[in-house]
Amino acid sequence: MKEKIHILLSFTFLTLFCLSTSTTQQFHIPNNAVLAQASHIKQRQLLYYKDKFGSRNELASVPHSLVFDNPRLKNAYIALHAWKLTIISDPLNFTSNWVGSNVCNYTGVFCSNALDDPSIQTVAGIDLNHANIAGYLPDELGLLSDIALFHINSNRFCGTVPTSFKKLKLLFELDLSNNCFAGRFPYVVLGLPSLKYRDL
Ligand SMILES: *[C@@H]1O[C@H](CO)[C@@H](O)[C@H](O)[C@H]1NC(C)=O
Ligand SMILES: *[C@@H]1O[C@H](CO)[C@@H](O)[C@H](O)[C@H]1NC(C)=O
Repeated sequence: MKEKIHILLSFTFLTLFCLSTSTTQQFHIPNNAVLAQASHIKQRQLLYYKDKFGSRNELASVPHSLVFDNPRLKNAYIALHAWKLTIISDPLNFTSNWVGSNVCNYTGVFCSNALDDPSIQTVAGIDLNHANIAGYLPDELGLLSDIALFHINSNRFCGTVPTSFKKLKLLFELDLSNNCFAGRFPYVVLGLPSLKYRDL
């Protein structure tokens, strides 16, 4: 009996589906119109993203008063501040101490000696797991060329993984899980030569 009801229901849905499809066909909507509408919606979504998450070109400026131990730390400053500019909510205040030139003291940022130059300190890892931050990943994150670890599990980062991630040649662990990324699979992560641990 249950099965019969099930079959009946499926049949009804199928019929409804076919009816609705044929109704659409009766209206003879030209494919171009549908495409134009889709592109319009996409455009609106893009604008919404720009409004909500800022433009995609927010190069953070470096105040002249700041002094950095080496140029890579200055690049890290640019990357982290471009990232901070995209953040629209940080309820647990992870990034509120992201000020000044000492990026190694920022919450969630870890430094160590550079692999190719042990005499200097560079940013080796980012760990913002469970920070519940809303924002997106700016292109400037590609400036973090020394990072081995990038963990942003359980946040509200949206948009896409920037192609600039291909510059992260030392990246060993990447955890982007439990966020709100959209779009197609971030193929850029497949080309990372050092990547061993990946959770998307
Ligand atoms: C974060 O900072 C704001 C403003 O300084 C404060 O009101 C809030 O309680 C802080 N939240 C946490 C979780 O520390
Ligand atoms: C930043 O970290 C260094 C060690 O790397 C420490 O000596 C210094 O006191 C810290 N500065 C602040 C403002 O926390």
